[in-house]
Amino acid sequence: MPSITFENVSKSFRDTQVITSFDAQIEDGEFVVLLGPSGCGKSTLLRMIAGLTDITSGTMRFDGEVVNEWEVAERRLAFVFQSYALYPHMTVRANIAFPLVMAAFKRWYHVPVVNSIARRTLMRSPEISERTARIATALELDQLLDRRPVQLSGGQRQRVALARALVRDPAIYLLDEPLSNLDAKLRTQMRAQITGLHREVGRTFVYVTHDQVEAMTMATRIIVMDHGAIQQIGTPDEIYRSPANTFVARFVGAPPMNLLPIGDEASGVRRADLATHVPGLALPDGDDLLLGIRPEKLRFHDDASGPLSATVVAVERLGSETLVGFHLDTAEDRPRTLAPETPHYAKVPADQPVTVGESCSLSFAAADVVWFDRETTRRLDPALV
Ligand SMILES: Nc1ncnc2c1ncn2[C@@H]1O[C@H](COP(=O)(O)OP(=O)(O)OP(=O)(O)O)[C@@H](O)[C@H]1O
Ligand SMILES: [Mg+2]
Repeated sequence: MPSITFENVSKSFRDTQVITSFDAQIEDGEFVVLLGPSGCGKSTLLRMIAGLTDITSGTMRFDGEVVNEWEVAERRLAFVFQSYALYPHMTVRANIAFPLVMAAFKRWYHVPVVNSIARRTLMRSPEISERTARIATALELDQLLDRRPVQLSGGQRQRVALARALVRDPAIYLLDEPLSNLDAKLRTQMRAQITGLHREVGRTFVYVTHDQVEAMTMATRIIVMDHGAIQQIGTPDEIYRSPANTFVARFVGAPPMNLLPIGDEASGVRRADLATHVPGLALPDGDDLLLGIRPEKLRFHDDASGPLSATVVAVERLGSETLVGFHLDTAEDRPRTLAPETPHYAKVPADQPVTVGESCSLSFAAADVVWFDRETTRRLDPALV
């Protein structure tokens, strides 16, 4: 079972570079999620692992062996494409069983074409029919096995494509946004199914998504990408607690981490206020600082007792909790108008009375603060803060 190593891997389509100096090591048996916004190069990277797209420069290895020139078939992969294709003339059952039937047929006849009679005979073999039934049950497709793809909804087709990829026993599973067409409830169920499968088979999974909830809940490690470059590699917890830069801080978490400008009077939080009101807070030197704090780490006060005075500009009641959008009151005047720029957010208990337009203040603990350099966007080394 291979580990996958990228050494300075780059990819260009003609003169457009879409992957830049990708360096990473995916260990055997890991569940790695490639996370990033649309167009950042996730599918391209997955297709390079599969051998469907060649590498412009750099080296890719499976278990230390260079695989740049390996054919797709040599790589022993299961691949669920972002745009999945089912065989329209076959039933759901036949679609799922297809990779097993092909493998069995090749074993016996060494001929790549399976006619429909041979296929049906093979599908009735206990090994294939049991495995097909088991994966169909896991993905809740039992009732649909005799239908054809045209008789299925988009989400059902996606589950058939997933079942077809998972039915085999490959060395590496590559999944490209396999849950994108499912509704919220099914998506939650399927997340658990896929991570359950990963535990069961113990193989290497590389899973592409732009959904940070999927990344946080499924990954053993996340590779956050933007514009074809790695922004951070870490466990979900590391990515969430210690984002390497402001891109990661804003991309992971909903609402995103608040980044509050510090230092100059006009634009944000005064150093003196922080120094007096936040016990134990070590303030780094420099004027171009951003104070990062997660919405759930802010405490909301309906009076002026906290160090950050603010005005509420949005209230979103989610039932279990309430999201409060606020703008910091800069300089002496408290702005009463709803400013157009994106607000900061705090998460407050559902029973907290909050109204748009009210003045409030916010406080937080020194331990929950992450500092960034506004110029470089990088996180400041905690040892230096
Ligand atoms: N065959 C191609 N020729 C030229 N450019 C391409 C080709 N395939 C992809 N690209 C470009 O490479 C970039 C990365 O594409 P890719 O499909 O890897 O993004 P992605 O991260 O998977 O996005 P999404 O989340 O929307 O699926 C995009 O700017 C895309 O337009
Ligand atoms: Mg894609």
